[in-house]
Amino acid sequence: MGDPAVVKIFDTTLRDGEQSPGATLTTSQKLQVAAQLERLQVDIIEAGFPAASPGDLAAVKAIAQQVHGVAVAGLARAHRNDIDAVWEAVRTADLPVIHIFLATSDIHLQHKLHLSREDALQRVRDMVSYARSLCPMVEFSAEDATRSDRDYLCRVLECAIQAGATTINVPDTVGYTFPHEYESLFRMLRERVPGMDQVTLSAHCHDDLGMATANTLAAIRGGARQVEVTINGLGERAGNTPLEEVVMALRTRPDMFAHVDTRINAQELLATSQMVSQLTGIIVQPNKAIVGSNAFAHESGIHQDGMLKHRMTYEIMTPQSVGWTDTNLVLGKHSGRHGLDARLRHLGHQLTAEQLQSAYSRFISLADQKKAITDADLIYIIESGEETP
Ligand code: KIV
Ligand code: ZN
Repeated sequence: MGDPAVVKIFDTTLRDGEQSPGATLTTSQKLQVAAQLERLQVDIIEAGFPAASPGDLAAVKAIAQQVHGVAVAGLARAHRNDIDAVWEAVRTADLPVIHIFLATSDIHLQHKLHLSREDALQRVRDMVSYARSLCPMVEFSAEDATRSDRDYLCRVLECAIQAGATTINVPDTVGYTFPHEYESLFRMLRERVPGMDQVTLSAHCHDDLGMATANTLAAIRGGARQVEVTINGLGERAGNTPLEEVVMALRTRPDMFAHVDTRINAQELLATSQMVSQLTGIIVQPNKAIVGSNAFAHESGIHQDGMLKHRMTYEIMTPQSVGWTDTNLVLGKHSGRHGLDARLRHLGHQLTAEQLQSAYSRFISLADQKKAITDADLIYIIESGEETP
């Protein structure tokens, strides 16, 4: 079950994240990301889906051999061949994990799998116990759990635990749930499913309604002690829960989570985000929490004035704590005299009140015509007493 004060980070950037259209990585790129995830101190790296292709199997195998002190998981459908492929790929890892999934919602059972509830139950029993005969750590995921019948879900999860699953994952596969609902689902499962206190209970959310982070945090409040996340929220459709958001929410508001925390080295968050963005070619939106280029940028005069007086007026964490060098006071048409003065002093120009007023007028008229005012623009304004053309 693990330490109840620790939330394990199961990073699935290299599996669910790689399922983002266009995010495909080569083996050597996957190895680079895995080494960075090791520096970030994630607990589990889901390295791929070995049955999907020989290339994916080779990549998972290479990661299992390269990383140390981190568990390495591979995904399998509830089929022997998939499980064998995962085992072949992860068996050399320090801490190998076989991750099996089977859908439990009627929508999936009837229309996708053409399987009765009883047959699915039997398949879970057989495949989890087969995987457990190979590997000491087996995770079972009830795909589409949040749209599954509650009583049936309880039966399936009980059966997976009896068959030897060491982690039970309750995915919100299609990003359908709401925070209060997901939290009570976790509470209900902990109350009703025998053996749940002996395994790690895990949350896995998608962002179809923009609630993946809120839902993941709600699951932690409901008792989840593993969260499945990706760097920058990469993943199928609207993506998965972004790792960086969950980690910093727990660090910023420990009072909301009875002080549970992850083992993540948060100062590596920005470097990891930038590496994943560069290798996948998927850009990070500027206003993305924690790792977007505007996450610690302030443009308006009121905000810059507040920041210059006390950083906590408009920042709830320091930029350095997540890997940025500093706050960015951006000069633009909403900036005020204090922001301009601070930047000019930084550039070595200490102006009198009168000089500052005149520089500010020239600055504002230039800012009305340009999106960003550079240091070169400011020096020109000061030295020439005129705007740049
Ligand atoms: O979203 C999902 O249900 C999954 C499972 C395979 C865990 O990615
Ligand atoms: Zn998923």
